[in-house]
Amino acid sequence: MGSYASHSHHGLYASTRSRIWMTCAMAALAGLLFGLDIGVIAGALPFIAKDFQVNDHTQEWIVSSMMVGAAVGALAAGWLSFRLGRKYSLLLGAALFIAGSLLCASAPNPAFLIGSRFVLGVAVGIATFTAPLYLSEIAPGQVRGAMVSAYQLMITVGILIAFLSDTAFSPSGAWRWMLGVVAIPAALFLLGILTLPRSPRWLMMKGRNDEARKVLNSLRTETAVVEREMSDIERQLEVKEQGFALLRTSRDFRRSLALGVMLQVVQQLTGINVVMYYAPRIFGLAGYSGHQAQLWGTVIVGAVNVIATFIAIGLVDRWGRRPILLTGFGVMTLGMGALGWLLKLGVVTHTQQLVAVAMLLVFIAGFAMSAGPMIWILCSEIQPIKGRDFGIAASTFTNWVANTIVGATFLTMLNSFGHAQTFWLYAALNAAFIAFTFWFVPETRGVPLETIEQNLLAGKPLREIGR
Ligand code: BGC
Repeated sequence: MGSYASHSHHGLYASTRSRIWMTCAMAALAGLLFGLDIGVIAGALPFIAKDFQVNDHTQEWIVSSMMVGAAVGALAAGWLSFRLGRKYSLLLGAALFIAGSLLCASAPNPAFLIGSRFVLGVAVGIATFTAPLYLSEIAPGQVRGAMVSAYQLMITVGILIAFLSDTAFSPSGAWRWMLGVVAIPAALFLLGILTLPRSPRWLMMKGRNDEARKVLNSLRTETAVVEREMSDIERQLEVKEQGFALLRTSRDFRRSLALGVMLQVVQQLTGINVVMYYAPRIFGLAGYSGHQAQLWGTVIVGAVNVIATFIAIGLVDRWGRRPILLTGFGVMTLGMGALGWLLKLGVVTHTQQLVAVAMLLVFIAGFAMSAGPMIWILCSEIQPIKGRDFGIAASTFTNWVANTIVGATFLTMLNSFGHAQTFWLYAALNAAFIAFTFWFVPETRGVPLETIEQNLLAGKPLREIGR
């Protein structure tokens, strides 16, 4: 502390700024990797299917083994980030990322590919749990909310880049390159993590307060702020994380936990990842038969996903969570419903094809402006402090389980239910989520986390814990 006081204020400020900047850049990169791995399979899958001559069922598992791995990774991440610390579990995640990508690229057969996608998934699971946790522990209070949104934005950018890179490799059908290049940003991520400081909150958890003070001094401009933050952390740590025990004793924690879990189930059952993983196939259903047309269509999906995320970022603190979600689910119902209807009529003419694509884009925009970022934001807001880590781990895990179910059933549903019926099912689910939002989702805009917690523990209905 003393040594910092002797620095010129300006010099301190500049180095702090670059530290914070570096941290944001890492957050961005973690989101980007999440997105790259979601997006990369869409463009590669048609070529993999041709090369390995695999049926729809095997394709579903090539897609979904990554999500199974991510669920496992998210579960393990809670323990890893406690034992190794946030920094070193991120490092482990990055190393697995590189290994997983290279294994995928070199897979000699479908079983090997499924196994490698699982390894990649474990990396994604570790990163999706640990990166937001680390960020929330290191970011100055004022920018915490913005960081969650920025993280989601980078997920969508990652998906778009993956779609573009797939398209670039597609004339040669080089799916191995598509899956392998992801190792490059992963290597950058690994190098970046090496330069990051350890989380001050984790250091204090381990009783290493002097080191924590050093880290905070390098991240904050005023020593008074550092001391205030340290006593805040100290106070929080006194409220012991209870997790499982709390689950048994507190009905209110069971309620917030159930809400977090349901929110993630809802996010996935909108059907968003049906489009993210199988977009080329959907363009095929809509009458676009060439690989190139399908891939460019997929790129447009990725671009709309990025652009509409800005709508959410702009509106979240003005409209609030509930109106945005209600609107989003309405828009998604319309998109999926109309798409099903067109497939029922038969998409033949050029105009019908264009309308089908437009409806798919309406659906994507509806998701990106609402449930995409909003669900992650809500999940980070509703848990009482005693059970926060446990609560967020449980909802993140659920995100991946539900993601697996959606990814592993889409082609089977198309084949056994029929095309139109599959999209109608998703339309019906989105319509049901309007009611879900109405009854269960609280409005948390501008409400301090302490107030939300007090209301929850006072037994207020979930819908009202933000008042
Ligand atoms: C979801 C992912 C999805 C992505 C699409 C995220 O919020 O959790 O499953 O692929 O949004 O942009």
